[in-house]
Amino acid sequence: MEKGNTALILNPFLEGMREAGAEVELFYTRKLNIKPCTGELDCWIKTPGECYQKDDMQMLLPKMCEADVMVFATPVYVDGVTGPMKNLIDRMIPCVGHLVELRDGHCRHPLREGAKSSKVVLVSNCSFWEMDNFDPLLAYMKAFCKNGSHEFAGALLRPHGVAMLPMLEMGASLDDLFEAAKEAGRELVEDGEMSTETLGIISRELMPLELCMQFANQQFQQALDAL
Ligand SMILES: Cc1cc2nc3c(=O)[nH]c(=O)nc-3n(C[C@H](O)[C@H](O)[C@H](O)COP(=O)(O)O)c2cc1C
Repeated sequence: MEKGNTALILNPFLEGMREAGAEVELFYTRKLNIKPCTGELDCWIKTPGECYQKDDMQMLLPKMCEADVMVFATPVYVDGVTGPMKNLIDRMIPCVGHLVELRDGHCRHPLREGAKSSKVVLVSNCSFWEMDNFDPLLAYMKAFCKNGSHEFAGALLRPHGVAMLPMLEMGASLDDLFEAAKEAGRELVEDGEMSTETLGIISRELMPLELCMQFANQQFQQALDAL
């Protein structure tokens, strides 16, 4: 959560948004009680727009329906989002209606009245070195946006993100990364979009591939040796 690698990028990003005048609310999925969707689709049939399950989604969904921007921050977990984040996304189904319509030549469900189309930003980090480790997650978030009538506004991606904390402990400066994350937040609020240049700084190489692998293996070995 607040001490994780994702937070290292998310926090300055939100700070930049706040500084540019956005009203920001932050929720940690792990702290929320969000039960998995059980698939009855009562929210489409018996009680349109409302899930039969009574939990923190009752508080969260109205906020999400009103938001101009939704920021989904998650580490890569087996090429996707974390379990609690997936539960949250599945439980957003009441935001759309049951009807199937053609949008840009593709089957979609229309947004329910009262639900708003928002900009969506992904903030993520992963342990592996390559940028393509984000490809499945990016494809998923873009599909989620298309299905939910949202606009995918871009992603702050940090490959070999696990290297950040040890590097900071060893005295390396990652200020350019954190400053770029803050700048991305400012850009999003002030310009409505984030520049490729700014996002590129956040994803920049921290160390060569071979060193990164060596470093990761050493860290695990040290943890094993400490048992
Ligand atoms: C269950 C699990 C699955 C993971 N899957 C991947 C993965 O598919 N690819 C990857 O590069 N890193 C993977 N990781 C590593 C995390 O993305 C990485 O440790 C990240 O820095 C954690 O972020 P956090 O500190 O914000 O939780 C996985 C970690 C866990 C615990």
